[in-house]
Amino acid sequence: MVELKTVNLSNAKVETLVVPVCEDSEIHTNKTVISLVESAKALPEFKGKGGDRITLFQPDGIRIARVVFMGLGKADKMDGESFRSFAGKAIKFCIEAGLSTVTIATPSAVSAKMEPVTLFSTLAEGACLGNHIFDQYKKEKEKKPVKKVILMATAAQKKTYSKRISCVSAICDAGIMAREWVTTPSNDKRPEAFARMIQKAANSEGLKVSVKNDAWLEQQKFGAMLAVGQGSSAKPRLVTIEYVPKNSKKTLVLVGKGVTFDSGGINLKPSGSIETMKMDMAGAAAVAGTMMAVARFKPNVKVVGVMPLVENMPSGAAIRPGDIIRSYAGKTIEIGNTDAEGRLILIDAIAWAIKKYQPDTMIDLATLTGACVIALGEKIAGVFSNDKKLSDAIVASGENTHERCWPLPLPDDYKELLKNDFADLNNISSGRWGGAITAALFLSEFIGDTNWAHIDIAGPAWASKASDYCGAGGTGFGVRLLCDWIQNQ
Ligand code: BES
Ligand code: MN
Ligand code: ZN
Repeated sequence: MVELKTVNLSNAKVETLVVPVCEDSEIHTNKTVISLVESAKALPEFKGKGGDRITLFQPDGIRIARVVFMGLGKADKMDGESFRSFAGKAIKFCIEAGLSTVTIATPSAVSAKMEPVTLFSTLAEGACLGNHIFDQYKKEKEKKPVKKVILMATAAQKKTYSKRISCVSAICDAGIMAREWVTTPSNDKRPEAFARMIQKAANSEGLKVSVKNDAWLEQQKFGAMLAVGQGSSAKPRLVTIEYVPKNSKKTLVLVGKGVTFDSGGINLKPSGSIETMKMDMAGAAAVAGTMMAVARFKPNVKVVGVMPLVENMPSGAAIRPGDIIRSYAGKTIEIGNTDAEGRLILIDAIAWAIKKYQPDTMIDLATLTGACVIALGEKIAGVFSNDKKLSDAIVASGENTHERCWPLPLPDDYKELLKNDFADLNNISSGRWGGAITAALFLSEFIGDTNWAHIDIAGPAWASKASDYCGAGGTGFGVRLLCDWIQNQ
Protein backbone atom coordinates (compact mmCIF):
# COMPACT_ATOMS: atom_id res chain seq x y z
CA MET A 1 0.00 0.00 0.00
CA VAL A 2 2.95 2.36 0.64
CA GLU A 3 5.48 2.91 -2.13
CA LEU A 4 8.41 5.18 -2.87
CA LYS A 5 8.04 6.99 -6.17
CA THR A 6 9.74 9.73 -8.11
CA VAL A 7 7.06 12.32 -8.83
CA ASN A 8 7.68 15.38 -10.95
CA LEU A 9 5.20 17.81 -9.41
CA SER A 10 5.60 20.36 -12.19
CA ASN A 11 3.82 18.13 -14.70
CA ALA A 12 2.46 14.96 -12.99
CA LYS A 13 -1.25 14.54 -12.35
CA VAL A 14 -1.77 14.17 -8.59
CA GLU A 15 -5.06 13.60 -6.78
CA THR A 16 -3.97 14.67 -3.30
CA LEU A 17 -0.61 16.02 -2.19
CA VAL A 18 -0.02 16.25 1.56
CA VAL A 19 2.76 18.57 2.66
CA PRO A 20 4.21 18.66 6.20
CA VAL A 21 5.19 22.20 7.16
CA CYS A 22 7.28 23.54 10.03
CA GLU A 23 6.54 26.99 11.40
CA ASP A 24 10.12 28.20 11.75
CA SER A 25 12.06 26.63 8.90
CA GLU A 26 11.65 25.29 5.38
CA ILE A 27 12.06 21.50 5.59
CA HIS A 28 11.60 20.89 1.85
CA THR A 29 14.06 21.26 -1.01
CA ASN A 30 11.70 20.49 -3.91
CA LYS A 31 11.07 23.78 -5.77
CA THR A 32 7.37 23.17 -6.44
CA VAL A 33 6.75 22.21 -2.80
CA ILE A 34 8.64 25.27 -1.54
CA SER A 35 6.55 27.64 -3.63
CA LEU A 36 3.34 25.88 -2.56
CA VAL A 37 4.34 26.24 1.10
CA GLU A 38 5.02 29.94 0.50
CA SER A 39 1.56 30.47 -0.88
CA ALA A 40 -0.01 28.63 2.07
CA LYS A 41 2.01 30.57 4.63
CA ALA A 42 0.96 33.83 2.95
CA LEU A 43 -2.55 33.10 4.24
CA PRO A 44 -3.36 34.38 7.75
CA GLU A 45 -4.92 31.09 8.84
CA PHE A 46 -1.88 28.90 8.20
CA LYS A 47 1.53 29.32 9.82
CA GLY A 48 2.74 25.71 10.12
CA LYS A 49 2.05 25.53 13.86
CA GLY A 50 1.29 22.08 15.29
CA GLY A 51 -2.33 21.28 14.39
CA ASP A 52 -2.63 23.93 11.62
CA ARG A 53 -4.21 22.56 8.47
CA ILE A 54 -5.38 24.07 5.19
CA THR A 55 -6.32 22.74 1.76
CA LEU A 56 -5.63 24.58 -1.50
CA PHE A 57 -7.49 23.38 -4.60
CA GLN A 58 -5.97 23.29 -8.07
CA PRO A 59 -3.03 25.65 -7.57
CA ASP A 60 -2.04 27.54 -10.71
CA GLY A 61 0.26 26.05 -13.31
CA ILE A 62 0.34 22.44 -12.01
CA ARG A 63 -1.93 19.41 -12.26
CA ILE A 64 -2.57 18.77 -8.55
CA ALA A 65 -6.24 18.56 -7.57
CA ARG A 66 -5.68 19.48 -3.93
CA VAL A 67 -2.74 20.22 -1.66
CA VAL A 68 -3.24 19.60 2.06
CA PHE A 69 -0.74 21.44 4.28
CA MET A 70 -0.28 20.13 7.80
CA GLY A 71 1.55 22.12 10.45
CA LEU A 72 4.12 20.32 12.60
CA GLY A 73 5.47 23.13 14.77
CA LYS A 74 9.18 23.81 15.32
CA ALA A 75 11.72 21.93 13.17
CA ASP A 76 14.23 21.16 15.93
CA LYS A 77 11.47 19.43 17.94
CA MET A 78 10.91 16.86 15.15
CA ASP A 79 11.71 13.20 15.71
CA GLY A 80 10.56 9.89 14.24
CA GLU A 81 7.37 9.95 16.26
CA SER A 82 6.45 13.39 14.86
CA PHE A 83 6.46 11.87 11.37
CA ARG A 84 4.51 8.76 12.38
CA SER A 85 1.87 11.08 13.85
CA PHE A 86 1.92 13.36 10.83
CA ALA A 87 1.48 10.47 8.38
CA GLY A 88 -1.23 8.93 10.56
CA LYS A 89 -3.14 12.22 10.66
CA ALA A 90 -2.69 12.72 6.91
CA ILE A 91 -4.16 9.28 6.20
CA LYS A 92 -7.00 9.83 8.65
CA PHE A 93 -7.84 13.11 6.92
CA CYS A 94 -7.92 11.35 3.53
CA ILE A 95 -10.10 8.53 4.88
CA GLU A 96 -12.58 11.05 6.28
CA ALA A 97 -12.60 12.88 2.94
CA GLY A 98 -13.07 9.64 0.99
CA LEU A 99 -9.84 9.99 -1.01
CA SER A 100 -8.14 6.90 -2.39
CA THR A 101 -4.59 7.85 -3.42
CA VAL A 102 -2.34 10.09 -1.35
CA THR A 103 1.04 11.50 -2.28
CA ILE A 104 3.17 12.69 0.63
CA ALA A 105 5.82 15.32 0.03
CA THR A 106 8.74 13.76 1.92
CA PRO A 107 10.73 16.53 3.61
CA SER A 108 14.47 16.50 2.98
CA ALA A 109 15.95 19.12 5.29
CA VAL A 110 14.38 18.54 8.68
CA SER A 111 17.41 18.58 10.97
CA ALA A 112 20.83 17.02 11.24
CA LYS A 113 19.63 14.46 13.80
CA MET A 114 16.85 13.08 11.53
CA GLU A 115 18.37 10.49 9.24
CA PRO A 116 16.63 9.95 5.90
CA VAL A 117 16.06 6.26 6.67
CA THR A 118 14.20 7.22 9.87
CA LEU A 119 12.17 9.76 7.95
CA PHE A 120 11.06 7.28 5.28
CA SER A 121 10.46 4.46 7.77
CA THR A 122 8.40 6.51 10.21
CA LEU A 123 6.30 8.10 7.46
CA ALA A 124 5.58 4.62 6.09
CA GLU A 125 4.74 3.33 9.58
CA GLY A 126 2.35 6.14 10.38
CA ALA A 127 0.65 5.71 7.00
CA CYS A 128 0.29 1.90 7.21
CA LEU A 129 -0.84 1.86 10.81
CA GLY A 130 -3.13 4.87 10.42
CA ASN A 131 -4.88 3.22 7.48
CA HIS A 132 -6.34 0.44 9.62
CA ILE A 133 -10.09 0.37 10.26
CA PHE A 134 -11.63 -2.37 12.43
CA ASP A 135 -15.13 -2.73 10.98
CA GLN A 136 -15.56 -6.52 10.70
CA TYR A 137 -18.55 -6.37 13.00
CA LYS A 138 -20.32 -3.44 11.28
CA LYS A 139 -22.95 -4.01 8.64
CA GLU A 140 -22.38 -0.56 7.13
CA LYS A 141 -18.70 0.02 6.44
CA GLU A 142 -18.78 3.79 6.84
CA LYS A 143 -15.17 4.48 5.95
CA LYS A 144 -12.81 3.00 3.41
CA PRO A 145 -9.05 2.75 3.91
CA VAL A 146 -6.86 4.66 1.48
CA LYS A 147 -5.78 2.44 -1.45
CA LYS A 148 -2.35 3.81 -2.13
CA VAL A 149 0.18 6.04 -0.35
CA ILE A 150 3.07 7.41 -2.36
CA LEU A 151 6.10 8.75 -0.52
CA MET A 152 7.94 11.09 -2.85
CA ALA A 153 11.56 10.03 -3.31
CA THR A 154 14.44 10.65 -5.66
CA ALA A 155 15.58 7.76 -7.87
CA ALA A 156 18.58 7.24 -5.58
CA GLN A 157 16.43 7.23 -2.42
CA LYS A 158 14.07 4.76 -4.03
CA LYS A 159 16.96 2.44 -4.71
CA THR A 160 18.37 2.78 -1.20
CA TYR A 161 15.17 2.58 0.86
CA SER A 162 12.67 0.43 -1.06
CA LYS A 163 13.69 -2.79 0.67
CA ARG A 164 13.48 -1.11 4.06
CA ILE A 165 9.98 0.15 3.25
CA SER A 166 8.69 -3.30 2.33
CA CYS A 167 10.13 -4.56 5.62
CA VAL A 168 8.35 -1.75 7.50
CA SER A 169 5.09 -2.61 5.71
CA ALA A 170 5.40 -6.27 6.69
CA ILE A 171 5.96 -5.32 10.33
CA CYS A 172 3.00 -2.91 10.31
CA ASP A 173 0.75 -5.54 8.71
CA ALA A 174 1.76 -7.91 11.50
CA GLY A 175 1.04 -5.21 14.08
CA ILE A 176 -2.40 -4.70 12.55
CA MET A 177 -3.04 -8.44 12.68
CA ALA A 178 -2.21 -8.34 16.40
CA ARG A 179 -4.51 -5.33 16.90
CA GLU A 180 -7.38 -7.15 15.23
CA TRP A 181 -6.92 -10.27 17.32
CA VAL A 182 -6.92 -8.18 20.49
CA THR A 183 -10.05 -6.26 19.48
CA THR A 184 -11.90 -9.42 18.38
CA PRO A 185 -14.49 -10.25 21.04
CA SER A 186 -13.85 -13.23 23.31
CA ASN A 187 -16.84 -15.17 21.98
CA ASP A 188 -15.00 -15.43 18.66
CA LYS A 189 -11.52 -16.20 19.96
CA ARG A 190 -11.84 -18.87 22.64
CA PRO A 191 -8.58 -20.86 22.91
CA GLU A 192 -9.31 -23.40 20.16
CA ALA A 193 -10.59 -20.70 17.78
CA PHE A 194 -7.72 -18.32 18.49
CA ALA A 195 -5.23 -21.16 18.03
CA ARG A 196 -6.71 -21.87 14.59
CA MET A 197 -6.47 -18.18 13.61
CA ILE A 198 -2.80 -18.10 14.53
CA GLN A 199 -2.20 -21.41 12.80
CA LYS A 200 -3.82 -20.19 9.62
CA ALA A 201 -1.77 -17.00 9.56
CA ALA A 202 1.46 -18.92 10.28
CA ASN A 203 0.72 -21.47 7.57
CA SER A 204 0.22 -18.75 5.00
CA GLU A 205 3.67 -17.39 5.90
CA GLY A 206 5.17 -20.85 5.52
CA LEU A 207 6.06 -21.10 9.22
CA LYS A 208 6.15 -24.33 11.18
CA VAL A 209 3.28 -24.25 13.67
CA SER A 210 1.89 -26.69 16.22
CA VAL A 211 -1.30 -26.58 18.29
CA LYS A 212 -1.37 -28.85 21.37
CA ASN A 213 -4.71 -29.70 22.97
CA ASP A 214 -5.72 -30.29 26.59
CA ALA A 215 -5.09 -34.03 26.38
CA TRP A 216 -1.48 -33.36 25.42
CA LEU A 217 -1.15 -30.71 28.14
CA GLU A 218 -2.43 -33.23 30.69
CA GLN A 219 -0.06 -35.90 29.55
CA GLN A 220 2.82 -33.41 29.74
CA LYS A 221 1.68 -32.20 33.19
CA PHE A 222 1.04 -28.52 32.46
CA GLY A 223 -0.65 -28.38 35.87
CA ALA A 224 -0.72 -24.60 36.32
CA MET A 225 -2.01 -23.85 32.84
CA LEU A 226 -4.69 -26.53 33.06
CA ALA A 227 -5.79 -25.27 36.48
CA VAL A 228 -6.51 -21.83 35.04
CA GLY A 229 -8.45 -23.30 32.14
CA GLN A 230 -10.50 -25.84 34.08
CA GLY A 231 -13.39 -23.48 34.81
CA SER A 232 -14.11 -22.87 31.15
CA SER A 233 -15.99 -25.08 28.71
CA ALA A 234 -13.34 -24.10 26.13
CA LYS A 235 -10.18 -26.03 26.92
CA PRO A 236 -6.63 -24.63 26.79
CA ARG A 237 -4.31 -24.84 23.80
CA LEU A 238 -0.57 -24.38 23.48
CA VAL A 239 0.51 -22.83 20.17
CA THR A 240 4.13 -22.91 19.03
CA ILE A 241 5.55 -21.27 15.92
CA GLU A 242 9.11 -21.89 14.79
CA TYR A 243 11.18 -19.84 12.38
CA VAL A 244 14.37 -21.76 11.62
CA PRO A 245 16.88 -20.24 9.17
CA LYS A 246 19.90 -22.11 7.88
CA ASN A 247 23.10 -21.64 9.93
CA SER A 248 21.45 -19.83 12.83
CA LYS A 249 23.80 -19.08 15.70
CA LYS A 250 21.24 -18.17 18.33
CA THR A 251 17.79 -19.19 19.52
CA LEU A 252 15.34 -16.58 20.73
CA VAL A 253 12.13 -17.67 22.42
CA LEU A 254 9.16 -15.32 22.76
CA VAL A 255 6.35 -16.24 25.12
CA GLY A 256 3.00 -14.42 25.12
CA LYS A 257 0.19 -14.52 27.68
CA GLY A 258 -2.97 -15.65 25.91
CA VAL A 259 -5.92 -15.36 28.28
CA THR A 260 -8.74 -15.02 25.75
CA PHE A 261 -11.01 -13.68 28.48
CA ASP A 262 -10.04 -12.89 32.06
CA SER A 263 -13.18 -12.83 34.18
CA GLY A 264 -11.00 -13.20 37.27
CA GLY A 265 -12.42 -16.69 37.88
CA ILE A 266 -13.95 -17.36 41.32
CA ASN A 267 -12.28 -14.07 42.42
CA LEU A 268 -14.57 -12.47 39.85
CA LYS A 269 -13.60 -9.04 38.59
CA PRO A 270 -16.09 -6.27 39.37
CA SER A 271 -17.85 -4.05 36.81
CA GLY A 272 -15.42 -1.42 35.65
CA SER A 273 -12.50 -3.89 35.52
CA ILE A 274 -13.98 -6.75 33.50
CA GLU A 275 -15.29 -5.05 30.35
CA THR A 276 -12.03 -4.91 28.42
CA MET A 277 -10.65 -8.27 29.49
CA LYS A 278 -10.88 -9.66 25.97
CA MET A 279 -7.54 -7.88 25.62
CA ASP A 280 -5.82 -10.27 28.06
CA MET A 281 -4.36 -12.25 25.15
CA ALA A 282 -2.43 -9.24 23.82
CA GLY A 283 0.92 -10.83 24.74
CA ALA A 284 0.12 -13.88 22.61
CA ALA A 285 -1.18 -11.64 19.80
CA ALA A 286 2.07 -9.64 19.84
CA VAL A 287 4.19 -12.80 19.77
CA ALA A 288 2.12 -14.31 16.94
CA GLY A 289 2.25 -11.04 15.00
CA THR A 290 6.00 -10.81 15.49
CA MET A 291 6.42 -14.31 14.06
CA MET A 292 4.48 -13.31 10.92
CA ALA A 293 6.83 -10.35 10.43
CA VAL A 294 9.88 -12.51 11.17
CA ALA A 295 8.83 -14.84 8.35
CA ARG A 296 9.05 -11.82 6.04
CA PHE A 297 12.24 -10.08 7.16
CA LYS A 298 14.06 -13.36 7.72
CA PRO A 299 16.67 -12.68 10.41
CA ASN A 300 19.58 -15.13 10.70
CA VAL A 301 18.61 -16.24 14.20
CA LYS A 302 16.17 -18.96 15.18
CA VAL A 303 12.97 -17.46 16.63
CA VAL A 304 10.30 -19.47 18.44
CA GLY A 305 6.94 -18.10 19.57
CA VAL A 306 5.14 -19.88 22.40
CA MET A 307 1.55 -18.96 23.18
CA PRO A 308 -0.39 -20.57 26.05
CA LEU A 309 -4.11 -19.91 25.42
CA VAL A 310 -6.78 -20.25 28.12
CA GLU A 311 -10.07 -18.72 29.16
CA ASN A 312 -10.29 -17.78 32.87
CA MET A 313 -13.90 -18.42 33.94
CA PRO A 314 -15.78 -19.10 37.17
CA SER A 315 -17.85 -22.30 37.27
CA GLY A 316 -18.43 -25.43 39.31
CA ALA A 317 -15.27 -26.81 37.75
CA ALA A 318 -13.10 -23.75 38.33
CA ILE A 319 -10.05 -23.59 40.60
CA ARG A 320 -10.71 -22.18 44.03
CA PRO A 321 -8.67 -19.90 46.27
CA GLY A 322 -6.75 -22.21 48.59
CA ASP A 323 -6.34 -24.97 46.00
CA ILE A 324 -2.79 -26.24 45.61
CA ILE A 325 -1.62 -27.11 42.12
CA ARG A 326 1.57 -28.65 40.70
CA SER A 327 3.22 -26.72 37.87
CA TYR A 328 5.05 -28.21 34.87
CA ALA A 329 8.36 -27.44 36.59
CA GLY A 330 7.27 -29.46 39.63
CA LYS A 331 6.90 -26.59 42.10
CA THR A 332 3.59 -26.48 43.95
CA ILE A 333 1.54 -23.29 44.15
CA GLU A 334 -1.31 -22.28 46.43
CA ILE A 335 -3.94 -20.23 44.64
CA GLY A 336 -4.18 -17.06 46.71
CA ASN A 337 -6.30 -15.43 44.02
CA THR A 338 -7.78 -16.95 40.86
CA ASP A 339 -7.38 -13.58 39.13
CA ALA A 340 -3.58 -13.90 39.24
CA GLU A 341 -3.88 -16.40 36.37
CA GLY A 342 -1.46 -14.97 33.82
CA ARG A 343 1.64 -15.90 35.80
CA LEU A 344 0.31 -19.46 36.13
CA ILE A 345 -0.05 -20.09 32.42
CA LEU A 346 3.27 -18.34 31.73
CA ILE A 347 5.37 -20.43 34.13
CA ASP A 348 4.29 -23.67 32.47
CA ALA A 349 4.93 -22.32 28.97
CA ILE A 350 8.26 -20.82 30.07
CA ALA A 351 9.50 -23.96 31.85
CA TRP A 352 8.52 -26.15 28.90
CA ALA A 353 10.09 -23.81 26.33
CA ILE A 354 13.37 -23.58 28.25
CA LYS A 355 13.57 -27.37 28.40
CA LYS A 356 12.65 -27.84 24.76
CA TYR A 357 14.61 -24.99 23.09
CA GLN A 358 17.39 -23.97 25.53
CA PRO A 359 17.07 -20.37 24.35
CA ASP A 360 19.99 -17.94 24.34
CA THR A 361 17.41 -15.31 25.25
CA MET A 362 13.79 -15.53 26.28
CA ILE A 363 11.36 -12.62 26.37
CA ASP A 364 7.81 -12.89 27.63
CA LEU A 365 5.06 -10.35 26.98
CA ALA A 366 2.01 -10.23 29.18
CA THR A 367 -0.88 -8.05 30.23
CA LEU A 368 0.10 -9.18 33.69
CA THR A 369 -0.79 -6.61 36.33
CA GLY A 370 -2.97 -3.60 36.99
CA ALA A 371 -0.14 -2.51 39.28
CA CYS A 372 2.11 -1.91 36.27
CA VAL A 373 -0.53 0.42 34.83
CA ILE A 374 -0.61 2.28 38.15
CA ALA A 375 3.19 2.60 38.03
CA LEU A 376 3.74 3.61 34.39
CA GLY A 377 0.34 4.62 33.03
CA GLU A 378 -1.45 3.43 29.93
CA LYS A 379 1.27 4.03 27.36
CA ILE A 380 4.48 2.62 28.82
CA ALA A 381 5.35 -1.02 29.46
CA GLY A 382 7.43 -2.27 32.39
CA VAL A 383 10.57 -4.32 31.69
CA PHE A 384 12.08 -6.75 34.16
CA SER A 385 15.26 -8.64 33.41
CA ASN A 386 18.08 -10.61 34.95
CA ASP A 387 20.40 -8.99 32.39
CA LYS A 388 20.92 -5.23 32.32
CA LYS A 389 22.17 -5.34 28.72
CA LEU A 390 18.99 -7.05 27.60
CA SER A 391 16.70 -4.59 29.36
CA ASP A 392 18.75 -1.67 27.96
CA ALA A 393 18.35 -3.12 24.46
CA ILE A 394 14.59 -3.46 24.94
CA VAL A 395 14.30 0.11 26.25
CA ALA A 396 16.33 1.29 23.20
CA SER A 397 14.01 -0.59 20.82
CA GLY A 398 11.14 1.08 22.64
CA GLU A 399 12.63 4.46 21.82
CA ASN A 400 13.19 3.51 18.17
CA THR A 401 9.60 2.36 17.72
CA HIS A 402 7.85 4.57 20.26
CA GLU A 403 6.56 1.40 21.92
CA ARG A 404 7.97 2.73 25.14
CA CYS A 405 9.40 0.54 27.90
CA TRP A 406 10.80 1.42 31.28
CA PRO A 407 12.94 -0.79 33.54
CA LEU A 408 11.63 -1.96 36.90
CA PRO A 409 13.60 -3.96 39.49
CA LEU A 410 13.62 -7.62 40.56
CA PRO A 411 14.69 -7.25 44.22
CA ASP A 412 15.67 -10.56 45.87
CA ASP A 413 14.29 -9.61 49.27
CA TYR A 414 10.77 -9.11 47.87
CA LYS A 415 10.64 -12.84 47.07
CA GLU A 416 9.64 -13.32 50.68
CA LEU A 417 6.24 -11.90 49.78
CA LEU A 418 5.52 -15.01 47.68
CA LYS A 419 6.20 -17.53 50.47
CA ASN A 420 3.41 -19.89 51.44
CA ASP A 421 2.83 -22.09 54.50
CA PHE A 422 1.69 -25.15 52.58
CA ALA A 423 3.03 -24.93 49.04
CA ASP A 424 6.34 -23.89 47.47
CA LEU A 425 4.85 -20.54 46.41
CA ASN A 426 1.70 -18.45 46.59
CA ASN A 427 0.45 -17.02 43.30
CA ILE A 428 -0.09 -13.60 44.93
CA SER A 429 1.94 -11.41 47.21
CA SER A 430 1.19 -11.31 50.92
CA GLY A 431 1.64 -7.54 50.76
CA ARG A 432 -0.36 -4.82 49.11
CA TRP A 433 2.31 -2.91 47.17
CA GLY A 434 4.58 -3.50 44.21
CA GLY A 435 2.27 -5.93 42.43
CA ALA A 436 4.04 -5.66 39.07
CA ILE A 437 7.32 -6.56 40.77
CA THR A 438 6.02 -9.51 42.75
CA ALA A 439 4.35 -10.88 39.61
CA ALA A 440 7.67 -10.64 37.74
CA LEU A 441 9.48 -12.25 40.70
CA PHE A 442 6.98 -15.10 40.59
CA LEU A 443 7.93 -15.70 36.93
CA SER A 444 11.64 -15.44 37.78
CA GLU A 445 11.29 -18.54 39.98
CA PHE A 446 10.90 -20.57 36.78
CA ILE A 447 13.64 -19.07 34.66
CA GLY A 448 16.74 -20.82 36.05
CA ASP A 449 19.82 -19.20 34.57
CA THR A 450 18.20 -18.36 31.23
CA ASN A 451 18.86 -14.88 29.89
CA TRP A 452 15.36 -13.44 30.25
CA ALA A 453 13.19 -10.37 30.18
CA HIS A 454 9.54 -9.96 31.08
CA ILE A 455 7.55 -7.07 29.57
CA ASP A 456 4.33 -6.15 31.36
CA ILE A 457 2.11 -4.62 28.67
CA ALA A 458 -1.10 -4.32 30.72
CA GLY A 459 -1.20 -0.55 30.05
CA PRO A 460 -0.23 -0.08 26.39
CA ALA A 461 -1.87 -3.21 24.92
CA TRP A 462 -5.23 -1.46 24.79
CA ALA A 463 -6.26 2.08 23.86
CA SER A 464 -9.52 3.41 25.25
CA LYS A 465 -9.50 6.13 22.59
CA ALA A 466 -7.99 6.61 19.15
CA SER A 467 -4.66 8.40 18.67
CA ASP A 468 -2.86 9.65 15.55
CA TYR A 469 -2.04 6.27 14.03
CA CYS A 470 -3.96 3.83 16.17
CA GLY A 471 -7.70 3.42 16.54
CA ALA A 472 -9.41 2.60 19.83
CA GLY A 473 -9.01 -1.02 20.92
CA GLY A 474 -6.04 -3.35 20.59
CA THR A 475 -2.83 -1.47 19.80
CA GLY A 476 -0.60 -4.33 18.62
CA PHE A 477 1.94 -3.11 21.16
CA GLY A 478 5.04 -5.30 21.14
CA VAL A 479 5.19 -6.28 17.48
CA ARG A 480 7.27 -3.32 16.30
CA LEU A 481 9.25 -3.40 19.56
CA LEU A 482 10.19 -7.08 19.25
CA CYS A 483 10.91 -6.82 15.52
CA ASP A 484 13.30 -3.92 16.15
CA TRP A 485 15.01 -5.88 18.91
CA ILE A 486 15.28 -9.04 16.77
CA GLN A 487 16.75 -7.03 13.89
CA ASN A 488 19.49 -5.88 16.24
CA GLN A 489 20.47 -9.44 17.27
N1 BES B 1 -5.18 -9.43 33.25
C1 BES B 1 -5.01 -8.88 34.53
C2 BES B 1 -4.12 -7.64 34.55
C3 BES B 1 -4.65 -6.41 33.84
C4 BES B 1 -5.24 -5.40 34.54
C5 BES B 1 -4.45 -6.26 32.49
C6 BES B 1 -5.69 -4.26 33.91
C7 BES B 1 -4.90 -5.12 31.84
C8 BES B 1 -5.51 -4.11 32.54
C9 BES B 1 -4.37 -9.91 35.47
O1 BES B 1 -4.67 -11.22 35.19
C10 BES B 1 -4.90 -9.63 36.83
O2 BES B 1 -6.06 -9.79 37.05
N2 BES B 1 -4.00 -9.22 37.74
C11 BES B 1 -4.38 -8.92 39.06
C12 BES B 1 -3.37 -9.55 39.98
C13 BES B 1 -3.79 -9.59 41.43
C14 BES B 1 -4.96 -10.52 41.62
C15 BES B 1 -2.61 -10.06 42.24
C16 BES B 1 -4.37 -7.39 39.20
O3 BES B 1 -3.54 -6.73 38.58
O4 BES B 1 -5.22 -6.89 39.92
MN1 MN C 1 -6.48 -11.85 36.10
ZN1 ZN D 1 -5.16 -11.66 33.26
